[in-house]
Amino acid sequence: MAPGVGAITWTTPLRVDVDEAWRDVVTSFADDLRVALGWDVVIGAGDDAQIVVRRVADLAPEEFQLVVDDQTVIEASTATGVAHALTVLRQMGPAALWSVEPRTLASIELDRAKVHDVPAFGWRGVHLDVARHFWNVDAVCRLIDLAAAHRLNRLHLHLNDDQGWRVEVPGWPRLTEVGAWRASSPLGHEEDGRDDHAPHGGYYSAADLERIRAHAARRFVVIVPEIDLPGHAQAVLAGYPELGNGAAPVEVWTRWGISEHVLNPGEGALAFAEEVVTYVASLFPESPVHIGGDECPTAEWERSQAARAIMEANGFVEARQLQGLFTQRLSRALALAGHEVVAWDEVLDATVPDGTLIAAWRDSAKGVEAAERGLDVVMAPMQSLYFDWLNSSEPGEPVAQARQPFVTPWEKVYGFAVVPPGLDPELHHHVRGAQAQLWTEYIATRDHLDYMAFPRLAAFAEVVWGTATTAADFRVRLEEHLERLTAMGVRYRPLDPPSPEQHVLDHV
Ligand code: ACM
Repeated sequence: MAPGVGAITWTTPLRVDVDEAWRDVVTSFADDLRVALGWDVVIGAGDDAQIVVRRVADLAPEEFQLVVDDQTVIEASTATGVAHALTVLRQMGPAALWSVEPRTLASIELDRAKVHDVPAFGWRGVHLDVARHFWNVDAVCRLIDLAAAHRLNRLHLHLNDDQGWRVEVPGWPRLTEVGAWRASSPLGHEEDGRDDHAPHGGYYSAADLERIRAHAARRFVVIVPEIDLPGHAQAVLAGYPELGNGAAPVEVWTRWGISEHVLNPGEGALAFAEEVVTYVASLFPESPVHIGGDECPTAEWERSQAARAIMEANGFVEARQLQGLFTQRLSRALALAGHEVVAWDEVLDATVPDGTLIAAWRDSAKGVEAAERGLDVVMAPMQSLYFDWLNSSEPGEPVAQARQPFVTPWEKVYGFAVVPPGLDPELHHHVRGAQAQLWTEYIATRDHLDYMAFPRLAAFAEVVWGTATTAADFRVRLEEHLERLTAMGVRYRPLDPPSPEQHVLDHV
């Protein structure tokens, strides 16, 4: 960014000159300005336009140039680039431009400047666990808006787990009739062993997911749906026990952790997994699809005669190899349907098809392992990018997944190296980007989600755009950015630690 001399003034209505093909991008900008300021934006050609959008073919897909002047000029090669430039324009004005409730401003001033930007990484993701706690369509769309405001471009939805199944699937009614509801949830930390005895649940219809997909598309965010199998399957087995390994009937799990009840590795369960995953994929035709694959205990397979027979038939020496049957079956089906396949790094422990995109979560070394095996990787290591971990070691923090000494202040996020330092430079191209995780065992309300996500997600955004400097330098920008978050109604975690007296649980 190069500052210019002086400022320009805008009043309503703003005129934007844009190619008809890109009208939708400017319409979203117009909608945002109407919500924030009650202003009008007139779209169409004309010499008196305050903003002119120009197509410049040799810019990279997400690259943009922006000159803020008496006539502001945006140059990009794609609608995505235009969207980024319009987001930056809003960032350069007063925080009121982000307001979710109308403010009255007769005019706004913008400093003259030139901006040129292109993201360092193509995968700039945030993940939301809608299984442990269900988040309705409005809550998901709001997170999409917040992600887009930070120029992030993937929302990974974790759609099932031991504690809940969240998608209606034709032909499998008990997934939602039974699997979407649990009788109780842990109260306080899982290790405290208490229960709230409050039923919890919910699920999305195909129409709900289409609303989410379409909203995300307008914000240039791609939804990455995840169906996590063969582990994390207790909610499936509550509805369809025949897909399990012959254990006693189970209910949708009411505790956190990793259930040992998993799908059996037989043809019926493999066909089930293929059917539900390809169905969910069909609702997101343009999306990469995540097949989970993490934390699959093998105890039931080791005890099962049927599973042992399948091992023998395949020449497997360890039960762990059975998981490869799911990875291969689902990958093949999704590839045939034209989807890129994403999986958690545990799939590296069995056969993993070429082209699988690995989400490295256990640590960055798993990302190095994937790249060394010729696979692309999204870095999501829990030590830096699990935003369900504590923000600090102060006593006022709300109960979180990881306990001290495992804390992840925003400064640690800001210092995260997307490309692991130990990775051979020849393999750097395998690192497609990074993703921040919002697991929700301990997050049940919108305010609490805000508290865990921000400001860490703002720090993460600079990391994946490749513009991170020092924490001290960022803090100056961050303090200003908090005003935008406030305008957006975000209950972010204050930069100074909460004291026990203003216990943050008061507002979660
Ligand atoms: C994970 O945290 N089990 C991916």
